[in-house]
Amino acid sequence: MKELSLLFIGFGVVGRGLAELLLEKAEVLRSRFDLNFKVVGICDLKWGSIANDEGIDLAKALSLVESGRSFDSYDLPARRGLSALEAIRETQSNVVVEVTWTNLENGEPGLTHIREALRLGKHVATTNKGPIALAYRELSKLAESRGVKLKFEGTVLSGTPTFNLTLNCLAALKVNRVRGILNGTTNFILTEMERGVSYHDALKKAQKLGYAEADPTLDVDGWDAAAKACILANVLMDGDVKPRDVERRGIRDMSLSDVLGAVNRGLRVKLLAEVWREGGEVKVRVSPKLIPQSDILAGVSGVLNAITFETDVLGEVTVIGAGAGRRPTGYALLNDLISIGSAL
Ligand code: HSE
Repeated sequence: MKELSLLFIGFGVVGRGLAELLLEKAEVLRSRFDLNFKVVGICDLKWGSIANDEGIDLAKALSLVESGRSFDSYDLPARRGLSALEAIRETQSNVVVEVTWTNLENGEPGLTHIREALRLGKHVATTNKGPIALAYRELSKLAESRGVKLKFEGTVLSGTPTFNLTLNCLAALKVNRVRGILNGTTNFILTEMERGVSYHDALKKAQKLGYAEADPTLDVDGWDAAAKACILANVLMDGDVKPRDVERRGIRDMSLSDVLGAVNRGLRVKLLAEVWREGGEVKVRVSPKLIPQSDILAGVSGVLNAITFETDVLGEVTVIGAGAGRRPTGYALLNDLISIGSAL
């Protein structure tokens, strides 16, 4: 039986989504994948830090935090107060789950966490978009040089297969163009607005449901979609695009009458991300577009996301599925762990 020794850096909505699924699927991991896991540490700025190489009680840690109590109330043996970097260096973890907040300016602190984990020869599973959007080439080379895996399925379309699909099933194809709805919060807001809900009420609802970023301007101003489009551009099309290079417009100035007016004309407003090749370069754009209701992406509503890959052999391939949320994003990490487990 192989064993994953997991260190959680971050224990917010996504980290707890993974924790819940690990507990729920422990038997499936054992019987189907010959995989055991223990959690050797959890570090979170809000809840505190606990570590024990023998394993900490994940169910207990999760239930504490779910009831709003910090790790001060964790009453089993554990080292306390380790910083994230100390925990990465000092625990016997073989996988670091990096799920701190997204920073699209410089990728920190996630970028430093991921670099350090890889440098130390630990596998990394992350949903943190900043480091992958800004430093994919560097991090993937580092992972390769250390013989470890860097997995980031949940950075785009949460648990809906994106990289598992394209880097495995579609691996021999050339992706020439990508078009997609990559942000769940804005798609949810636009769908609510089609029902007459105001922009602000819809945004509040998206925040309450855990779809929005800690700083929701990242969603509504198109930064999150831009970061995801950069990840697609850089991973699948060998681009070298940073979020700040993206031609970008969000949905902040969309009024109810814009959205409802479009519906009355048989159209829909969608925040579309587009990635294409032009003159030897890969370009990225994010902007609200009016699309006909017959367009496959027009039917993608609520928090659902979708991507159409335009390929050299299969033509267009579209995936549609959950784009955000606790369990879908936790599921992406679970899948990453299964894939890492197969390499142990
Ligand atoms: N805030 C993001 C979204 C979360 O709404 O899509 C998932 O990346």
